[in-house]
Order: sequence, then C-alpha cells, then structure tokens
Amino acid sequence: MTIDPRNRAEAPQSAEPADAPPVVDRLIHIADLHFWRVVYNPLRLLNKRLLGNINVYLRRRHEFNMSAGAKIARAVAAMRIKTILFTGDFTSTALEEEFELAAGFLERLRQEGCEPIVLPGNHDVYTFESRRDQRFERYFGAYAPPNGYPAKVRLDGGAPVVLTPTVCPNLFSSKGRIEDSEIERTAELVNEASGPVVVAGHYPLLERTYSYQLAPNRRLRNAEALRRALGETGRTILYVCGHVHRFSYVQDERRPNLHHLSTGALFRHNHKERTTGEFAEIWVHPDRFSVFRHTLDTEWRRVAVQPQ
Ligand SMILES: [Fe+2]
Ligand SMILES: [Fe+2]
Repeated sequence: MTIDPRNRAEAPQSAEPADAPPVVDRLIHIADLHFWRVVYNPLRLLNKRLLGNINVYLRRRHEFNMSAGAKIARAVAAMRIKTILFTGDFTSTALEEEFELAAGFLERLRQEGCEPIVLPGNHDVYTFESRRDQRFERYFGAYAPPNGYPAKVRLDGGAPVVLTPTVCPNLFSSKGRIEDSEIERTAELVNEASGPVVVAGHYPLLERTYSYQLAPNRRLRNAEALRRALGETGRTILYVCGHVHRFSYVQDERRPNLHHLSTGALFRHNHKERTTGEFAEIWVHPDRFSVFRHTLDTEWRRVAVQPQ
C-alpha cells in the first residue's frame, strides 16, 4: 500500500497492546456514508425521492459533511488494514450522482491498497426505479460477492465474514427484509466456518441498545428469526451493522455467543460528542473479538470498547 508520509500524523494508531492475544485478522467497518445531492428537477421527484429529498435538504446536508471524505479516506488507508467492510447506505436517495460520489470514495481506498467488501443499505435501493435499474450492482458489483447474498468471504488470515441481504425498497417505510431461506443459508455458512465468525447486515437485530431505539417502521422484518438462528449455531459471532447511525457494542442478553456492533455514520456531525467522523476497527482472535471505535474531532481518537 502506498502511504503518503504527510498523512501519518493524522492517521489513527493501530498498535497492538503487549499482552493482546494473537490476531487472526483485522478489518475496518464503515457504515452509512450517505453521500447526498439535492434534486431540483421536479420530474425526478415523482416517487419516494420527494420525501428523501426534503430530508436531505432540511437535515442531511447539515449533518453529513462530505468534505471530510478525502481526510477520512487518507486516515483509513494509512492504518494498513486491507479489508474494509461497508454495510450500506452509501447514498441518500439512490441517485446516480450519489452513487458516483460513493464509488469515487471506494476507488480512492482501492488505489491505496484497501479491499472493500460491500452490502447495500435501504437508501441504496431507495426507489423501485433504482432497484429495477440495478444501480447498486452497477456501481459496486466489483466489490460484491459474485453470486449474491448470503455469501461468505474469507480474509487473509482465514477469518470468515458472512454477508446477509436485509434490504428492499418500500413505498413509505424504511423497513428491511430477510427471507426464511436466506436466514437458513446464513446459518449454514456460519456453521461451515471454523473459529469466530463476523456476520454483517445493514439492519440491527436488536430494537434497542444503550445508544439507540429503533422505531417500528425502521426495523428489519424477521430480525428476531435471524437473531435466534445465529444464537442457535452456538458459534462465537460478531453481528456488525449500521442503519442506526449510533455506535454500540453489546453482548446479546439471551444468546451470549452473539455480540452486536453498530457503527456510527461515517460523516455524521455528532454535536453531543463534538465529532465529525467515525468508524470501527475489529480484530478477530482465535476465540473472540476486539473492537475499537475511531472518532474524529480535531484529531483521530481510538478507544478499545468492551461489550455491555
Ligand atoms: Fe443510514
Ligand atoms: Fe439504513
């Protein structure tokens, strides 16, 4: 990987503590980039995008500062962690222009030697037209598994990452969907693997944690069935998601073999914590995971987080 030495000072640190257990693989998790463009042409607003566009105009353009993109891409690349897992919501209303911005961000990381792995979010299939047009596949097909989801990807050290399909277009709500057959296949892929397994989806499986509470119209239909299936494998699993734009890391109270990580939105201006960017770093050990939260204020901060 080519690292510009000028960037080192702003790069988060990735050093291993002296007493840390062996590390099988490391990966970075980036969630909810939400590149946005405001649409003024009324002909392009004759669908759900009208609602989304109002949201972009009133809220997202203030909350999501895309100008930090280059700075964040440099910092991520400078960590020398090859795999970057994206759990979707690359766009805001699935516009071609938003996909182009997001694809440019991933291409920049790829040129630095990173390897993105991608899942779509509900905003990437925001309109039925964008779904029919297979816009996500056209822009990110090169980073997606060749035969669709669910799929398993093996990292360099052998750690498995299972990718689940959880999104669908909706007329008004932001609900997600996973079919019973897809849950069954996901559990099979987990059972076939050895050692701890990262399972990734766009939607959280928990309706609430210490940092978020998910309204009924923003939840994953069938979330409980997927949670139960993963729990019943008995395997050590880290379920990684976005969608809620809030960081949380918890152990499942009913299935202790299952941990849930939601990573905050990449460009979100978090007024409470005074940060303007965040992502997570995951280490896979032979028998467990370590999770680090990276946040950007005047400089990058990296904190090891214990599950609650
Ligand atoms: Fe989102
Ligand atoms: Fe989402």
